[in-house]
Amino acid sequence: MHFEYTEEHLAVRDAARDFAQTELLPEVIERDTEARFPYEQIKKMGELGFMGMMVDPKYNGGGMDTISYVLAMEEISKIDASASVSMSVNNSLVCWGLEKYGTEAQKEKYLKPLATGEIIGAFCLSEPEAGSDATSQKTTAELNGDYYILNGTKNWITNGNTASVYLVIAQTDVEKGHKGISAFIVEKGWDGFVIGKKEDKLGIRGSDTHSLMFTDVKVPVENRIGEEGFGFTFAMETLNGGRIGIAAQALGIASGAYELALAYSKERKAFGKTISQHQAIQFKLADMATQIEAARLLVLKSAWLKDSGQDYAHASAMAKLYASEVAMNVTVEAVQVHGGYGYVKEYHVERLMRDAKITQIYEGTSEIQKIVISRGILK
Ligand code: CAA
Ligand code: FAD
Repeated sequence: MHFEYTEEHLAVRDAARDFAQTELLPEVIERDTEARFPYEQIKKMGELGFMGMMVDPKYNGGGMDTISYVLAMEEISKIDASASVSMSVNNSLVCWGLEKYGTEAQKEKYLKPLATGEIIGAFCLSEPEAGSDATSQKTTAELNGDYYILNGTKNWITNGNTASVYLVIAQTDVEKGHKGISAFIVEKGWDGFVIGKKEDKLGIRGSDTHSLMFTDVKVPVENRIGEEGFGFTFAMETLNGGRIGIAAQALGIASGAYELALAYSKERKAFGKTISQHQAIQFKLADMATQIEAARLLVLKSAWLKDSGQDYAHASAMAKLYASEVAMNVTVEAVQVHGGYGYVKEYHVERLMRDAKITQIYEGTSEIQKIVISRGILK
């Protein structure tokens, strides 16, 4: 066992850190206030290879490992969690599933431009009445000759309007429960596909979250991913990796807030000394640093398990559960270390605190992670 990064890991981390500082930090407050999507920045992230990091180079990807991916996710998330959720969805929820289970034709047509960030993708599982209880979804895809006819509504879809390609999970045989669910590739602009209103959110306000409506949308049979009935397993397997990305996002939000709090504590003076010299603040910093380190180890362990071909479903659920709780704790404490200055936008920590909350909700709430973990322990 060793705890050292390779030179390549460090180069990726430094490149992501540099990009976040120079390209994402300027205007991050304005984008949050105006709920503005980071279009130009995401385009540049594609050019730098951050949108298809783990995809095989033969499909235009970076051919990197999951460790590199989580290091980059952490750095981007320290500064702009709205940009990092687009990155996470494109890499882990869209490119991964297409590369693992898509046909060669699907990879040529969709994966190649997704891996370069030329276009971005969305992953559509949740519905207005089916979030955690994902098998109870109502969207249907009925086979009619060479097409499936898709009807239903998906909710809360990240990259909802900016995506060009949507992986949509739908019922093809309601009688068969989760074994009657299938996965499809749907393109923006197809007849009957309408993008609903943009959600006005507490955090990750720069990310565009939309509902999507499908009315008699004709999806060619060749756009089904895998066999009929494979869609729920496809979604669950995809989310196992997705949760590593969101755990890394939570870690980045926490470490971004911690770094700001640490620096501020060394500058701010109260009662004749810097606040970092008061033990109450020192203990907060010690708790934050310890929690972040523990979260980092869980994130890296789940990434390593994935890279080494081992089962990572439970490890990724643990990493997401713990890192998201750390993100909440640490960002609340970072605001406290900043005092009143922490409560205003200029100092960034209030945004990080708002952004942290979503990591306990999406890609499976904390309660759902505990279901996944406990089933793994008890089986
Ligand atoms: N990995 C692989 N397979 C899994 C799995 C996992 N983590 N979890 C369940 N499965 C499989 C089971 O093995 C079972 O298959 P078999 O019958 O062939 O064995 C099948 O799925 C059904 O499993 P369960 O009987 O356990 O189903 P359930 O209905 O009791 O519960 C659940 C399943 C774990 C709660 C699941 O519904 C779930 O994960 N819900 C949360 C949904 C979610 O995470 N949504 C995220 C949407 S995307 C998103 O949020 C993106 C974003 O924000 C950026
Ligand atoms: P519910 O399932 O209704 O849960 C409500 C509460 O009940 C939660 O606390 C939950 O943990 C708890 N609960 C439910 N069932 C149980 C149980 N069995 N035991 C204990 N507690 C339980 N989805 C996508 O498909 N694609 C996306 O790109 C996407 N992006 C998102 C972006 C944002 C900003 C948001 C807010 C959501 C996004 N989602 C996306 C949806 C997200 O995955 C769901 O919101 C999440 O899975 C929870 O579902 P729900 O909102 O329906 O809550």
